[in-house]
Amino acid sequence: MKVLGLSGSMRRGGNTAQLIRVILQRCEDAGIKTEFVSLAGKKIMPCMGCEKCKVEKWCINEADDWDAIVKKVVECDVLVIGSPTYYYDVCGQLKNFIDRTYSLYHDRKLAGRKGVAVAVQANNGASRTIQTIEGFLSAHEFSSLGSVKGTGYAEGAVLDDTEAVQKAQKIGDKIVRLVKRNNK
Ligand SMILES: Cc1cc2nc3c(=O)[nH]c(=O)nc-3n(C[C@H](O)[C@H](O)[C@H](O)COP(=O)(O)O)c2cc1C
Repeated sequence: MKVLGLSGSMRRGGNTAQLIRVILQRCEDAGIKTEFVSLAGKKIMPCMGCEKCKVEKWCINEADDWDAIVKKVVECDVLVIGSPTYYYDVCGQLKNFIDRTYSLYHDRKLAGRKGVAVAVQANNGASRTIQTIEGFLSAHEFSSLGSVKGTGYAEGAVLDDTEAVQKAQKIGDKIVRLVKRNNK
């Protein structure tokens, strides 16, 4: 089973990436290979609303980094997807990425995968961030393995949120059990 971590933050080593990595590390410690992808520095254009994907079954705008990254999502079995909280919701980079997966929605190309939602806030708003990510996961018929909300402002501060770190570790353990069951 392929476990993929995807951070929408433009801070490559920021809090979202670090909280996702806590989950992935738990898998690695149990001998499960994982992959981590950051949207930092990537060019992800917005959905143009052209609806051409209803016929093409893929986003026709291939002039950026969306294509290569979404292929990794298509190939994964477990997606750990996270965002920093920007104005009480996901950041724009991740929203652009999500909106363009509309092209995979028509044929439910992502259905049956498992998902984990991760959000980080400085003070407030991560609940809505989680709701948006879970909306994406449920629209695509992922089943949920849970969610983690962390608090931290400066890069790395989320690791001081022990409750969030512990929850992330528990979710990591859940993924480990799932993968081991599937490998039997
Ligand atoms: C444009 C912008 C908007 C933000 N909006 C919020 C917000 O609504 N609520 C909040 O608690 N923190 C907000 N923050 C703070 C970030 O969510 C916080 O610093 C987070 O840890 C960043 O995660 P990252 O390091 O993964 O990018 C905002 C930060 C930026 C840059």
